[in-house]
Amino acid sequence: MRARLAPLRKPLSAAGVRVPGDKSISHRALLFAALAEGESRIAGLAPGGDVRSTARVLAQLGVPLLRGDGTPWVAKPRSLEFPEDDEPTFVPPGRPKGSAPLPERDADMGPDDAIVAGQGLRGLRAPLGDLDCGNSGTTLRLLTGILAGAGFEARLTGEPMERVAAPLREMGAVVESTDGRPPVVVRRGHPVRAARIKSPVASAQVKSAVLLAGLFAEGETTFTEPARSRDHTERMLRMMGGEVVARENTVAVRGPARLQAVAVDVPGDLSSAAFLLAAALIAPQGSTLQIEHVGVNPTRAGFLDALAMFGAKLKLEFSGRPSAEPVGRLSVTAQRLRGAQLDADLVLRAIDEVPILAVLGAFAEGETVIRGAAELRVKESDRLAQMALGLRAMGARVEELPDGLRISGTGGKLPGGAQIDAALDHRIALAFSVAALAAERPSSISGAEWADVSFPGFFRLLRRLGAEVEIFP
Ligand code: S3P
Repeated sequence: MRARLAPLRKPLSAAGVRVPGDKSISHRALLFAALAEGESRIAGLAPGGDVRSTARVLAQLGVPLLRGDGTPWVAKPRSLEFPEDDEPTFVPPGRPKGSAPLPERDADMGPDDAIVAGQGLRGLRAPLGDLDCGNSGTTLRLLTGILAGAGFEARLTGEPMERVAAPLREMGAVVESTDGRPPVVVRRGHPVRAARIKSPVASAQVKSAVLLAGLFAEGETTFTEPARSRDHTERMLRMMGGEVVARENTVAVRGPARLQAVAVDVPGDLSSAAFLLAAALIAPQGSTLQIEHVGVNPTRAGFLDALAMFGAKLKLEFSGRPSAEPVGRLSVTAQRLRGAQLDADLVLRAIDEVPILAVLGAFAEGETVIRGAAELRVKESDRLAQMALGLRAMGARVEELPDGLRISGTGGKLPGGAQIDAALDHRIALAFSVAALAAERPSSISGAEWADVSFPGFFRLLRRLGAEVEIFP
C-alpha cells in the first residue's frame, strides 16, 4: 500500500483525541495475566498486529483468552484503514489438549478489551506447533523468559534474540538458536536458577525476560543494566503481588512467585501520540491538538523532555485516578523549534521516538545532534540509516553517525516531493507521513500499511484532522 500525503494547507485543530493503547503495557498485561491466578480484565489493549501475536501465542499455550473483537488469533490483522475491502482472516491456532475453556463473552467488552483466565505460573501447556511471534520483538523476548521457566519444550519464530538467550543460559536454561537467529528452541528439563545478571545493554525487553524467568526460580534474581530502561514490568508485577525491588539500575525479583489477577486500564501509547504531537508542532500556525489518556511513565517519557529541549511548550495535565502507570492529557500548538542536543540518557527514555525526533530536528532552526542511539540499528529496521536516507530524500541535510544523526534544520519547511520506503518498519512509515504534512510538495510512502503495527487507523485520523491523504493499493 502506498500513501500520498499533501502538505497541510490549513491549521489543524482537534481536542479529545485518543491514540491506541500502549503496546509495551498491552504485551505485559496479557502475558502476566496468563501467569496469574484468576481472571484478569484488560481494557484498551493496543489494537495492532504485535499485541495480536502475543494473544495468539498465549492461546497456543492453552491460556483461555478472549479479545473483545471476538478472537485472539486473527492471523492477518484486517486493514483498519479500509475495513470494507479487507475481510479479516480468522485462523484459530491449535490449543493443546485439555486446555481450560475460553472465558464467556461479556456484553460490556469493547473491541480492544480482553479477559484472560490466568493459569498460574505452572499452568501453561506445551504448544502443538511453533509459536510465531511475527514482527514483535517484545513478544518473542518476554515469552522466551517465561518459557525458560515453564518446564516444556517450545520453538519460537520471529525476530533475532541472542541478547535474551545469553542471560537465560546464565540462569541454567537451554535456549538454542542458529547464530542468534530464530527459530529459538527452549529445551525442557533445565529448570532456571536464581542468578545475578549484568547486562551490557540497557533494554527493557532483556530485563523483562530475566525477571520473568526469575519468577520461576527459587530465591532472588537480580538484573543490572548500564542505565535504567522502562519499568512497566516492575510496576505491573508489583501490582499483581510480585516481590520486586528496584535500586538505581538494578532490579531484584523473588521466586517462586504467585501472581494475582488484576484489572488493567491500558493508557494511550505515548510512542503513537508522539507522531500526532509532532505533526501539530510543525503544522501551519494556529494549529492546536489535545490528546487524552496518554501514558507518561517517566522512564519512557523522554520525548516530552526532548520537546522542551527543542524549545517547545507543551501542557501535561495528569488525569484519572493514580494507578501503577501515570496518565495525562497532552496539549500542544504549532510553534517554532530550535535545534537540540539529544544524548544517550534522553535517547534511552525516548528510544522509539528517535525517528520522529529526527523529523522535528529537520524542521527546527539550527543543528540537532542525536547520540547514544546505536540500539536503533537493531530495531524493526536500521532506523538511523532509514531516517538519514528518507530525510535526505525530503531535502534535509543529514549526516549519519555511528550512534546517531547530525541534522541541519531548515527552521521552516523541507522541499518534500519524495518517494519513501517504510522498510517494513511502522515507525519509519509514521515518521515520514508526519514530515510529508509539513513539506512544500506532496510525498509518497510505500509500505504505508506497516503503520498498522502500532497505529491502526492513523491515516484515517490524519484525514479527520484535515490532511489530504490518498491511499493506493
Ligand atoms: C520495549 C522496549 C524497547 C522498545 C520496544 C518495546 C518493551 O526495546 O524499543 O519497542 O516493551 O520492553 P529494548 O528493550 O530493546 O530497549
